[in-house]
Amino acid sequence: ASLDPAAVAAAAAGAAVRVRVRGAAQAVRAVGRRVAFLVLRQGAATVQCVVAGGGMARFAAGLSRESVVDVAGVVSLPREPVRGTTQQLVEIHVEKLHCISRAVPNLPISVDDAARSEEDVARAKAAGEQLVHVGQDKRLDYRVIDLRTAANQAIFRVQCQVENMFRQVLLSEGFVGIHTPKLIGGSSEGGAAVFKLDYNGQPACLAQSPQLHKQMAVCGGFERVFEVGPVFRAEGSDTHRHLCEFVGLDVEMVLRDHYSEVCDVVDRLFVAMFDHLNKNCARELEAIHRQYPFKPLKYLETTLRLDYDQGIRMLQEAGVHVDPMGDLNTEAEKKLGELVRDKYDTEFYMLCRYPSAVRPFYTMPCSDDPRYSCSFDVFVRGEEIISGAQRVHDPELLAAQAQARGIDVRTIAAYVDSFRYGAPPHGGFGVGLERVVMLFCGLGNIRKTSLFPRDPRRLAP
Ligand code: 4AD
Repeated sequence: ASLDPAAVAAAAAGAAVRVRVRGAAQAVRAVGRRVAFLVLRQGAATVQCVVAGGGMARFAAGLSRESVVDVAGVVSLPREPVRGTTQQLVEIHVEKLHCISRAVPNLPISVDDAARSEEDVARAKAAGEQLVHVGQDKRLDYRVIDLRTAANQAIFRVQCQVENMFRQVLLSEGFVGIHTPKLIGGSSEGGAAVFKLDYNGQPACLAQSPQLHKQMAVCGGFERVFEVGPVFRAEGSDTHRHLCEFVGLDVEMVLRDHYSEVCDVVDRLFVAMFDHLNKNCARELEAIHRQYPFKPLKYLETTLRLDYDQGIRMLQEAGVHVDPMGDLNTEAEKKLGELVRDKYDTEFYMLCRYPSAVRPFYTMPCSDDPRYSCSFDVFVRGEEIISGAQRVHDPELLAAQAQARGIDVRTIAAYVDSFRYGAPPHGGFGVGLERVVMLFCGLGNIRKTSLFPRDPRRLAP
């Protein structure tokens, strides 16, 4: 529990420091009839409480796990070190104990079971022990309990830091935070993955991205904007990296000369973010690692930029069949990630100058060869976390590109028109928050980094 470090120091020096702590009864163990040990958890931290005296020890021993209790007592150093590194190095000798909220006696899942690593389960199985393994669906069904594990407490604290760094770095570079509408008239990314709804008699949908409005904000004079907000995608297939609702981190900015200015922002932002996580979230990363072992992400001080053509050549030389003017599938991206890691010693890189045909309608074609576009994707451990580009700011070209991709230009008329009133060259990028955390921590499934995930099958809790 979050004991004041000064109190801990005083207790260590032998002073009788009295504290009051409210937490969840993570574990209760009776020793004989007169003593009980109660492990109290607050957030990711736990502290052992010693309850001595017949009546109070019996009351403690009868507490159901996860009940919320208030404890008042004296802090002291434990006689034996306690298990688990998040445990405080002190214990509390309880003088008063109150149960504030009693949990049902038979929880649908236990925090201990949910906190078990796959390695622990495999080891126990090999030793012929019966350990309960809680599958992902069950964890998500009872997410309120599942979230209490040390790894989950850490994952969402890391996620908060990612978001915080996104804001901090961009604010320090003169960006303005904005909020764009999530109820819009048509698809913003093209394609069919939209949730349709009725907007007082008009067809509408949930925004697939802030794309159109963040560009309009730049044209509205803000020059450099960012947004943190929900993004909705009616994804049909259940994959390890697609959610139907995720948190989008978006950037849009005017360009002086070249879309590489956007890549420069990505570079500064993400290197600062990864440095920050490694430096300031060591405890959280360790807690995640304990349940879900992963290797620290390899990244360079200046992010590697490769051209799409170079990536294609690397894959072809490795014997992978890829269409040089087509998109890379998930396996090819993963393979390229491995090739890049082996050659350049980094698991974080940008792939630039994608073929125009595989990018959205609003992407600017390259002036030297319009078969290619001023666009890029960014990869972590061989999976995409960012896509970005320079945008078309010429309304005629924009309408033509939309039409060529089968988009009804009437549904985006206000967007196209906004470039008729003077529009600076601009570009930007979009990042999925859950993907950043999943891939930085090598978590393997995006549901682990979404508090209450919305996937094609799940709308509850
Ligand atoms: O690649 P996407 O679709 O690009 C856009 O939305 C553009 N408007 C961005 C831009 O400014 N050009 O999505 C951007 C990022 C992806 O790289 C990925 O990290 C994440 O959003 N993402 C998803 N995350 C979770 N579930 C999904 N279904 C996602 N789809 C995209």
